[in-house]
Amino acid sequence: MTVANEPAGYTGTQIFLHWIIAGLVVLQLVIGEDIKPAYRAFSRGTEPAAGDILNANIHVYVGLAVLVLAIWRIAVRLRHGVPAAPPEESVLLKRTSAVAHFLLYLFIFGMPITGALAWYFSFRVMGEIHELAKPVIIIAVGLHAAAALWQHFYVKSDVLVRMLLPAARRMG
Ligand code: HEM
Ligand code: HEM
Repeated sequence: MTVANEPAGYTGTQIFLHWIIAGLVVLQLVIGEDIKPAYRAFSRGTEPAAGDILNANIHVYVGLAVLVLAIWRIAVRLRHGVPAAPPEESVLLKRTSAVAHFLLYLFIFGMPITGALAWYFSFRVMGEIHELAKPVIIIAVGLHAAAALWQHFYVKSDVLVRMLLPAARRMG
């Protein structure tokens, strides 16, 4: 039975938001270091080179876009809900994936917020937390992607497909 907060699948908006955020987060992980020369220059009170300012602006605005999209995503989640875990999944696996998803949400909010505090308010500790989070996110996203592929190819559940196609399309 489909209940209000346990719909048959993700909506097209939820799927779009998942993948656009995933793409932007990966981009941020790749280009993250490019903001450092400008950040260091500002911290020392010197003027960064024009190219460094451009690189910094790209990192800042892509990161702020992630925050806006993450807020939108939570709003849609609260309104529409998310599909239940596959019934055959063990309680342990359900809990693990709930914790993993919570952590991923924490990152897509926490990274832009710590970054903004470092950048706009010279809050150095936040910059350090922001940097320390990099390897943690890489591991978390790697495990999350591996779990999705394992579910699809080994367990043969529908969790990957439902994050690719809205319920209405899947049911034809
Ligand atoms: C999803 C969002 C974000 C991700 C995944 C991300 C990721 C990263 C990464 C990987 C680094 C380099 C870390 C290193 O080399 O060890 C970095 C540095 C930095 N980021 Fe971000 N970032 C995000 C958003 C933002 C935003 C929105 C801002 C500012 C408004 C920002 C400001 C900074 C600053 C100032 C640094 C340099 C920190 C330091 O050197 O202490 N970031 N970020
Ligand atoms: C930075 C990258 C990523 C982030 C931040 C992220 C975040 C999330 C979050 C928070 C959820 C839970 C959605 C909810 O129920 O509200 C989720 C679900 C999901 N993600 Fe990701 N994800 C990322 C990358 C990936 C990648 C690369 C894959 C696949 C290879 C993937 C596959 C999935 C699947 C299949 C689900 C649905 C799980 C289910 O319905 O039980 N994600 N993701």
